[in-house]
Amino acid sequence: MLKTRIIQNEPTGAGRSPSIIEVDGLSKDYGSVRAVDRLSFSVSAGTITGFLGANGSGKTTTLRALLGLVAPTEGNCRIDGRRYRDLRRPLSTVGSMLEATTHPARTARNHLAMLAAEAGASRSRVGSLLELVELDAAADRRVGGFSLGMRQRLGLAGALMGDPAVLILDEPANGLDPEGIRWLREFLRGLAAEGRTILLSSHVLAEVAQTVDDVVVIKAGRLVTQAPLDTLLAAHASHQVRVRTAQPNVLVTALAAAGFTAIAGPDGAVVVTGCPPEQIGRLALEHGLVLSEITDETPSLEDTFLALTTQSEEIR
Ligand SMILES: Nc1ncnc2c1ncn2[C@@H]1O[C@H](COP(=O)(O)OP(=O)(O)O)[C@@H](O)[C@H]1O
Ligand SMILES: [Mg+2]
Repeated sequence: MLKTRIIQNEPTGAGRSPSIIEVDGLSKDYGSVRAVDRLSFSVSAGTITGFLGANGSGKTTTLRALLGLVAPTEGNCRIDGRRYRDLRRPLSTVGSMLEATTHPARTARNHLAMLAAEAGASRSRVGSLLELVELDAAADRRVGGFSLGMRQRLGLAGALMGDPAVLILDEPANGLDPEGIRWLREFLRGLAAEGRTILLSSHVLAEVAQTVDDVVVIKAGRLVTQAPLDTLLAAHASHQVRVRTAQPNVLVTALAAAGFTAIAGPDGAVVVTGCPPEQIGRLALEHGLVLSEITDETPSLEDTFLALTTQSEEIR
């Protein structure tokens, strides 16, 4: 329904879905602190995009600017082609979950009933949303006694109240256990399969790596990269292995002949890039070499992410 309307409103590029969320040259200063710095990115309709960066890198500020809760110092944010405040039916266009804003003394059902009134949704929607996020059994308990995971699920139910085509979620996986993260992944995948567009932030790539299609990585308020997750992973998938042998130069020559980069260090160790450890072992054997050490030093996904997001501060 909504998706069709969105696609008709936007210029359609060949093969690529139209952008439904656009951040264009956004900067936000808090006094002398530049929280967001000339940030631009866009999110295609029907995708799940991870908005990634270390704590304090400007994610929440950007999401609040998208939702009209923060006035930009410069630049623009648009959802479905409009600024948030110009949306005709904001709660039916975009649903959001920022930090917990529930009243602890209220029950889950009362909390959602208030949001239903705000969004002009029917009372019966409250019940179906409670079921959808699997909180029906806890519906009449006070939110103050909820676990973090239950609160996150209540937040998701609230975000869905107006049946929006776009969801903006700030750290929805924060504090969830592996089971909760799996539940969230399947829930969000289901929403995306219905054609919804989801932008979700995280400061831990591993929490969302199996959920997102694309990533937008920021550091100190600035864009580091926007890419499909697969592209980001492939760029860093290269093996790095350290080996030791009595004749390092023979090994380096053999590896070079097989098309791999190998560098012998002054300590006699050889660092090999792009070649899996098993293949190095086979090559060594073929050349009658005995390896006294073989260590896989390939950076983990999280190492790669940390390297992207926490390099030493640049001069602004
Ligand atoms: N209301 C505010 N007043 C002053 N500084 C703020 C405010 N909100 C955020 N900041 C600062 O802006 C920077 C980015 O914060 P934030 O957007 O919350 O980052 P993230 O969500 O990535 O952790 C931080 O340095 C933070 O201290
Ligand atoms: Mg934040």
